[in-house]
Amino acid sequence: MIDSYNRIINYLRVSITDRCNLRCVYCMPKEGVSFLGHEDILRYEEILRIVNIAVKFGIIKIRITGGEPLVRRGVIEFLSELMNVEGLQDISLTTNGILLEDFAERLFDAGIHRINVSLDSLVPEKYRMITRGGDLNRVLRGIEKARAAGFSPIKINIVGIQGFNDNEIENFAELIVDKPYQVRFIEYMPIGAPMNESFHHLSTDDIINTIKKRYTLLSRNSVERAGGPARVYRVDGCKGELGFIGAMSHQFCNTCNRLRLTANGELRACLFSDEPAADLKTPLREGCTDEELHEIITGLISRKPRSYEGPSYQSSRKKCVRNMSSIGG
Ligand code: GTP
Ligand code: 5AD
Ligand code: SF4
Repeated sequence: MIDSYNRIINYLRVSITDRCNLRCVYCMPKEGVSFLGHEDILRYEEILRIVNIAVKFGIIKIRITGGEPLVRRGVIEFLSELMNVEGLQDISLTTNGILLEDFAERLFDAGIHRINVSLDSLVPEKYRMITRGGDLNRVLRGIEKARAAGFSPIKINIVGIQGFNDNEIENFAELIVDKPYQVRFIEYMPIGAPMNESFHHLSTDDIINTIKKRYTLLSRNSVERAGGPARVYRVDGCKGELGFIGAMSHQFCNTCNRLRLTANGELRACLFSDEPAADLKTPLREGCTDEELHEIITGLISRKPRSYEGPSYQSSRKKCVRNMSSIGG
């Protein structure tokens, strides 16, 4: 389906839980996060019904997110059923990697072959600090297991933070020298929990300048850019690629192809906007028809905003009241 600004909407991000086995400082506050109750979460059958309708108006790509999707019981069986939905061309998953070691092979066997893993530091104590308790080595073993299982691409997401991991840029880049990963640097987006006061914005342009001191970035991979927020480069002498998601400094709203389904059944047209989302759970549970659901979804697409309100931290800070974990990134 085409929206009011001529963008093709073909990608749905589905958050299957707002719960997480980590508490990253830029995503969730330390305490006082209230999670959805069992009844408030869409059942897998309900998600599958929505996906089946979404496919009819042109959704071909699905990314499963959380919180942390691998903590929800029955995820493998759900993914196997999702694989059977006719018309979907691509199903992928974003994880924090803590459980990847245990899940990599089963995920691959269920048909998921693309995976994105969050990893904000390569120093165990720093990783534990930013995630409030995570074990870096488990994630590294999980990534290795995913590679051995055959996942491709494996994208490694790093939220760049001045005062935290700005001195690790080269170490992250080194990961792609002999491994075919796509290492992606993401600008912190001010959604939900305020960050530690000693942490500051780090732009993708600054990161690129640091990387250029040691590596030669080759041609931009234009195919990749067309479908996603990352600017992706091959790098001379390296097996992998580097990607940059300038969420704050380089708006990509004009090519945004996404919708987001939250775990409690709200459909959102924009990550940043606090515009009312479309509630799909209530009509679903009141027995609405597929046509009625279809109408609610297409109505939301027609209200998808042209862009969020400028790349200013402060302005969007005030607007975003939910944690990233409840939207699914
Ligand atoms: P693929 O392109 O399918 O690999 O997925 P992705 O890169 O969008 O997925 P991922 O879950 O790894 O997200 C990477 C980062 O991009 C996260 O920080 C997301 O919050 C951010 N992101 C994804 N989609 C959007 C979007 O529509 N707008 C903005 N501003 N950021 C986004
Ligand atoms: N800004 C930028 N990226 C974020 N993520 C979570 N919160 C934020 C934020 N405030 C990233 C995670 C994960 C992806 C889904 O979103 O690191 O890789
Ligand atoms: Fe969990 Fe991801 Fe949020 Fe970290 S960023 S707390 S891993 S949902």
